Amino acid sequence: MKSYPAGQEPEWLAGAPPIPGPGLEVTTPPVMAGGAWPSLEAIAAEVAGCRKCPLCEGRTNAVPGEGNPRAALMVVGEGPGEQEDLSGRPFVGRAGELLDKILAAIDLPRPEVYIANVVKCRPPRNRAPLPDERAACMPYLHRQIALVRPRVLLALGATAAEALLGVRQTLGSLRLKVHTLDAIPLVVTYHPAALLRNPNWKRPAWDDVRIARQLVDAES
Ligand code: URA
Ligand code: SF4
Repeated sequence: MKSYPAGQEPEWLAGAPPIPGPGLEVTTPPVMAGGAWPSLEAIAAEVAGCRKCPLCEGRTNAVPGEGNPRAALMVVGEGPGEQEDLSGRPFVGRAGELLDKILAAIDLPRPEVYIANVVKCRPPRNRAPLPDERAACMPYLHRQIALVRPRVLLALGATAAEALLGVRQTLGSLRLKVHTLDAIPLVVTYHPAALLRNPNWKRPAWDDVRIARQLVDAES
């Protein structure tokens, strides 16, 4: 664990919970690891014309993901909403504004991280992506993870957590553990859209992201 000189601890660390114990240990299923795209750009190019699931029918723009290709932290959401579909960029609506604030508060401003979603095309009326849609799209995300190889993964919400960990469990039961995906520590927290609906979850989510942030330090 990185230790900060006395008096120079970052603000986010004050009162942060200790790093919790281990959770699930998962490896990428071979069918999901199928894609051998050579780069993040190659994935974005393929996603732009992808027709592997019915979500392609409703999209304005596919939203492959963006950010620092060498990010220490990779954030995974569910799928594009309206603003994301219109712009082709992840987390640019209200939930995205909140995510930006959270990332800035842990001294990892948005340009320093990589942000992607389980599905790259907007589900109708923002419903959760269906199992077949997730399965069709996950090879892109798994390849993005393999290419970025972040020190830590942060799953936002149950869809991202389930898709990455391959389990159906409540968000509450997946929080406060350090899972691993292909040996990369993975922390689960609430989706920022859920925090906008239920501000009571903001405090626990702040704890979760500070656990993820400590893991970034721990892995350096
Ligand atoms: N919600 C998500 O899960 N992803 C986005 O990109 C935007 C909103
Ligand atoms: Fe392809 Fe994913 Fe879009 Fe479905 S959601 S069409 S699998 S990019």
